[in-house]
Amino acid sequence: MKRIVVFTGAGVSAESGIQTFRDSNGLWEQYKIEDVATPDAWRRNPSLVQDFYNQRRRRLLDVEPNPAHHALVKLEEKFIVQIITQNIDDLHERAGSSSVLHLHGELLKSRSTVNPSLIYPVEGWELKMGDKCEKGSQLRPHIVWFGESVPAMEAAIEWTQDADIFIVIGTSLEVYPAASLLMYASDESEKFLIDPNAKPPSGVQGLRVIRDTAGNGVPLIVNDLLKRYV
Ligand code: OAD
Repeated sequence: MKRIVVFTGAGVSAESGIQTFRDSNGLWEQYKIEDVATPDAWRRNPSLVQDFYNQRRRRLLDVEPNPAHHALVKLEEKFIVQIITQNIDDLHERAGSSSVLHLHGELLKSRSTVNPSLIYPVEGWELKMGDKCEKGSQLRPHIVWFGESVPAMEAAIEWTQDADIFIVIGTSLEVYPAASLLMYASDESEKFLIDPNAKPPSGVQGLRVIRDTAGNGVPLIVNDLLKRYV
């Protein structure tokens, strides 16, 4: 079986009603990264950080996977499919994708501030100051903040190097190290970038750019791949 690795960003969830970060009206126009998404922000004003992620979590509980998430599940009929996502939502999982690696963490989980291996599901939408892990320390959102290391990156690089087909969807490719993944795809692999405002990096051999929304472009590419590979 051929191996497909899919690398997604905020654009794959945009049509579900989740705001992207860097489009006009994106989240980083409303909030400053340094106020809500860094370890320093957490030290300075943890309530503000909690509130920011509580709002994101509340929104997530109200939305559904869209045709792009569903189309990716269909690929599993004929391919080994591994999804690497920068998104902290669970829409790939809810659509039914069976292998999803979250590079930047997961909104529906919390973790201990003293022991990062103590990870818990968040019940409902609200994580509060005073909510503690089993060792008695404050719980924080299970998110990789700016300035923190990306523990899943090593596995993501291995998956990417082994891909026969590599599909990038809805990401500005501005945040590193995640954005460097495309460089690890082998020259022989078939590569796609689906994004209405795609800015393809130079030096990537054989990259096919589809300037369309995920909701249109992903089902098209998925159907094409299902037809071409038996
Ligand atoms: P960005 O907001 O930087 O980029 C979103 C991309 O989605 C842009 O390239 C848009 O053109 C595209 N887009 C918008 N609508 C789309 C649609 N309907 N279909 C397909 N694409 C669409 O989001 P990311 O690249 O995911 O990290 O951002 C990367 C990281 O920066 C995030 O994981 C987050 C953020 O800060 C952390 O918070 C650590």
